[in-house]
Amino acid sequence: TVDVFEGMTLLEFSKRTGESLAVLQSILLNVGETVGSEFDAISIDVAELLAMEIGINVKRQHTTEGSQILPRPPVVTVMGHVDHGKTSLLDALRNTSVAAKEAGGITQHVGAFVVGMPDSGPSITFLDTPGHAAFSEMRARGAAVTDIVVLVVAADDGVMPQTLEAIAHARSANVPIVVAINKCDKPGANPERVKNQLAAEGIELEDIGGNVQVVEVSAMKSTGLDKLEEALLLEAVDMDLKARVEGPAQAYVVEARLDKGRGPLATIIVKAGTLVSGHHVVIGSQWGRLRAIRDMAGKQTDRATPAMPVEIEGLKGLPMAGDDVIVVESEERAKMLSEGRKRKYERDRLLKAEEARVAEAEKKE
Ligand code: GTP
Ligand code: MG
Repeated sequence: TVDVFEGMTLLEFSKRTGESLAVLQSILLNVGETVGSEFDAISIDVAELLAMEIGINVKRQHTTEGSQILPRPPVVTVMGHVDHGKTSLLDALRNTSVAAKEAGGITQHVGAFVVGMPDSGPSITFLDTPGHAAFSEMRARGAAVTDIVVLVVAADDGVMPQTLEAIAHARSANVPIVVAINKCDKPGANPERVKNQLAAEGIELEDIGGNVQVVEVSAMKSTGLDKLEEALLLEAVDMDLKARVEGPAQAYVVEARLDKGRGPLATIIVKAGTLVSGHHVVIGSQWGRLRAIRDMAGKQTDRATPAMPVEIEGLKGLPMAGDDVIVVESEERAKMLSEGRKRKYERDRLLKAEEARVAEAEKKE
């Protein structure tokens, strides 16, 4: 894998990849890009396209040189066993009632919400994940894109299989956990038992001298919510979260769906830069022009800044959850990159299938 960045020269690219200038020039000719000499700068998109054509993986490096780096809100993912009250807890934090409207009372997708803190303090971006056993992949993704995991454990039910799974995801993503022991209003609630169970799993709760904060809450009675918010903001302050605000946006897809009237829609969270309506984007191997950007309340907005979840409209195809969103300068670039990536994904897929076939054949011998 080689690093590519905006404004690198063709010569630099040639040196990094070990590909001859002649070959690179002929690829450029083929895709209709003109580069006068090897000392001319190429854009990051052209660099990625070249790399794909010669079969090299790239990592796009965005320089933050000269741009302002400012504090950003934390992204917090709520995880835990099915029915332990994750959606209810978010509802209580936002004064809404999503949980009651869910089919069968079970969350089946990843939802994104912004919760404003009292006294116009910093906001927190929350991701809600399903607790049902079938949705392990969504939990893994949720843990991978978040700053903090809120582990919800029902006080009457205790540590269960998907509690353990959530802990494992948080650990493998190296994300700190804040424990919320929920349903403390219930007669059968036993928070101490939950704490002991978590301690037995190696969670170093602060009650016993560790650094994992634990808060007792009731989503139903709306108790302990201020303590939970406090704990999250404290955790976030320790992490000193910052992002570049100006310049082209980078974002990732939380979920995508097809709407009958509006076409492919994606919920994305901005990582850096500012997403602006009208810009051209490439998402995985899909592309589009941002026809509309809506905040999580459905209100149209013309821009989105770091940690903001928004829904975007105007994509030509359906991207996948977890895909990166990048902004490119024109429709031509967007199409070019999207086509290049499609070809690369297809090559990678065939290569993998071939490897699997060979491995299978060797096993038989
Ligand atoms: P999945 O997303 O399907 O994993 O469930 P969830 O963790 O989001 O649980 P949800 O918020 O849907 O709540 C499950 C049930 O627990 C609902 O019937 C809630 O009313 C109830 N519940 C949630 N929080 C509390 C609480 O603090 N106290 C009591 N008594 N019940 C609660
Ligand atoms: Mg839920």
